Amino acid sequence: MLAFGLYMSIMGKVDIGTIAAILHLQGNASFLFENIGSFITLIQRSLVGAARVFALFSSPTESYSLLDRARSSGVSNQMIEMKAVSFSYENDKKVLNNINLSIAEGNMTAIVGTSGGGKSTILKLLMRFYDADNGEIYVNGKSIHSRTLRELRDLFAYVPQDAYLFMGTIEENISYGKIGASKEEIIEAAKRAYAHDFIVEFPNGYKTIVEEGSNNLSGGQKQRIAIARAILKNAQILLLDEATSALDSESEQLVQLAINCLMKGKTTLVIAHKLSTIEAADEIFVLKKGEIVEKGSHKELISMKGLYNNLYDFQFKC
Ligand SMILES: Nc1ncnc2c1ncn2[C@@H]1O[C@H](COP(=O)(O)OP(=O)(O)OP(=O)(O)O)[C@@H](O)[C@H]1O
Ligand SMILES: [Mg+2]
Repeated sequence: MLAFGLYMSIMGKVDIGTIAAILHLQGNASFLFENIGSFITLIQRSLVGAARVFALFSSPTESYSLLDRARSSGVSNQMIEMKAVSFSYENDKKVLNNINLSIAEGNMTAIVGTSGGGKSTILKLLMRFYDADNGEIYVNGKSIHSRTLRELRDLFAYVPQDAYLFMGTIEENISYGKIGASKEEIIEAAKRAYAHDFIVEFPNGYKTIVEEGSNNLSGGQKQRIAIARAILKNAQILLLDEATSALDSESEQLVQLAINCLMKGKTTLVIAHKLSTIEAADEIFVLKKGEIVEKGSHKELISMKGLYNNLYDFQFKC
C-alpha cells in the first residue's frame, strides 16, 4: 500500500496526507480482523463458565434443619452401626453390598482394602452425602434419618482423602471447623496439628492467602491444615480418610503426630492405606469390592493369612 500510495502521489493523483490516513486506518482494520478469532474463543470460554455457575445455582440445596424422612425408630447401643447397608452411585453397579459394621464409643476402628473397594463411600454414607439404598445406619444410638443434617454432621470431624482448602486466608480455612472461633483457638488448633511452625514462616503468617487449587501449599501442609480444622471442631467422632498421595517421610511423620493428637479420647474411624499406622486399632475391617471379607485385630487378621495378610506382606516386602 505504501509503494502504491507513493506512486499515486508522484503521479499527482493523491496527496501524502491521504496516504498517511489510509495507512493508519488500514492498520486499525486489520487489527480488528486479527482479533476476531481470540474474541470468539473468549466468548466461548465465558459461556462455558456461565453454564457452570448456573448449573451450581440450580443444584438442589440440602435442608440442614429439616427432618426429612425417619426410616426407622430403631436404636443402637454402639457409637456407629451399619446394618445390611447396600449402595450404588449408578443404578447397576453395587459399590457397597450388605455392610455390617459396629464401632463402640471411644474405639479406634480402621477400614482397609483394595482401591475402589468402597471405603470412602462408607464415610460419605455416614455423613449423608449420599443415602444408602438398603439397610440402616445408626450414629450415637439413633438412626441417621431421625436427626437433622446439622445435628448429624455436628457429630463428626472429617478429614477427607483430598483435603479441600477454600480460597481465602489460612486462618479462615482453619476457622471453617468452628465458625466464630477466636484467633487464640485457631493458633492452638494449628499448634496441635503441627501446622503452626510452617504457617508463621510465611511472610503473612495466618493471613497468607491460599491460592486457587492451593498450589502454594505442599500436600502435607494442606493435610495438616485440614487436621487443624478437625481439631478445632472437636466433634465426638473422627472420620479420617488417609491421603493416598505420597508424602516425604518427615512430612508424613508430622501428619501422623497430628493425627494421633486428633484421635485422643474420640471414637475414630480411619481409612488406612499404610497398614503400619493402624496396627494398634481395636478392630480392622477389610473391604473388597464393596463387601467386608475379614474383620478382627491386626494380630488376628495376620494369623488368618487372608487378604489383610497379603496386603501387609505386599507393603513390607519391598
Ligand atoms: N461420585 C461417584 N459417582 C460414581 N461412582 C463413584 C463416585 N465415587 C466413587 N465411585 C465409585 O465407587 C467405587 C468405590 O469408590 P470409593 O471412593 O469408595 O473407593 P475407595 O475404597 O475409597 O478407594 P481408594 O482406596 O482408591 O480411595 C469406585 O468404583 C468408584 O469408581
Ligand atoms: Mg477413598
